[in-house]
Amino acid sequence: MILIRQECGHMGKNSVVIAAAGKGTRMGLDINKQYIEVNGRSILAMTIQRFEECGQIDEIVIVANENEIDYCQNSIIERFGFTKVKAVVSGGETRQQSVFSGLCNVSADCGIVLIHDGARPFIRNESIIACIDAARAFGAAGAAVPVKDTIKLVSADGFIDRTIDRSGLWQIQTPQAFEYGLIMDAHRKALSEGIDATDDAMLAERLGHKVKLVMSDYYNIKITTREDLVFAEAIYNMFCKSDE
Ligand code: CTP
Ligand code: MG
Repeated sequence: MILIRQECGHMGKNSVVIAAAGKGTRMGLDINKQYIEVNGRSILAMTIQRFEECGQIDEIVIVANENEIDYCQNSIIERFGFTKVKAVVSGGETRQQSVFSGLCNVSADCGIVLIHDGARPFIRNESIIACIDAARAFGAAGAAVPVKDTIKLVSADGFIDRTIDRSGLWQIQTPQAFEYGLIMDAHRKALSEGIDATDDAMLAERLGHKVKLVMSDYYNIKITTREDLVFAEAIYNMFCKSDE
């Protein structure tokens, strides 16, 4: 398939896998954090909208908990009329398993696949496009920002072991974008070696592939704990109110 594509000079689709099959344990509510509403719109709906509206995205695959697939289909995709969603598939126990399930369900003619957290609703269009461009140029790319705080390595007894030089530290975000064959190889290798990573760039790194970082911004937060909901409402009011 990949050979045929290269011979034809065809670039393939830009697909995005949105991982939304977590449990949101750190949020401590009894619903999956993705379905929490911020100003009347669920977090996952906001995330999907960012990609629905991006001219360079051809298709969206959502990974949801098996028992939330119907809800996702009816209360999010149909309710908001998203047209690029190709499939809603069920996820796994870990994020990596969920992403792999999504990767297996993009179209056969996918060229670049982006992987994005359902819990990051404030991704800017420019960052999505920068990731796609960098993945086309370098094979693997991810959105990131330089670390603002001073970071300490701390021992188990709570004392500072040492201070890590901040100048080379970046905080990785999503989307992360890859040539489709590369990230499939990376996932298969991790699976066969029993590796379970919290992001996909790490799997590409383990293949020995270089991953290009593109400068994102500090508004692209992952909604993880309660206080993030306060930030989310503020960011929403600043950037998204006009979408209503
Ligand atoms: N995710 C997933 N499948 C899993 C675990 C996580 O699709 N088995 C998704 C989450 O839904 C989320 C993203 O991966 O959008 C990032 O994960 P995280 O922020 O850790 O979300 P949760 O795992 O849901 O939260 P927690 O770790 O607090 O339980
Ligand atoms: Mg998690």
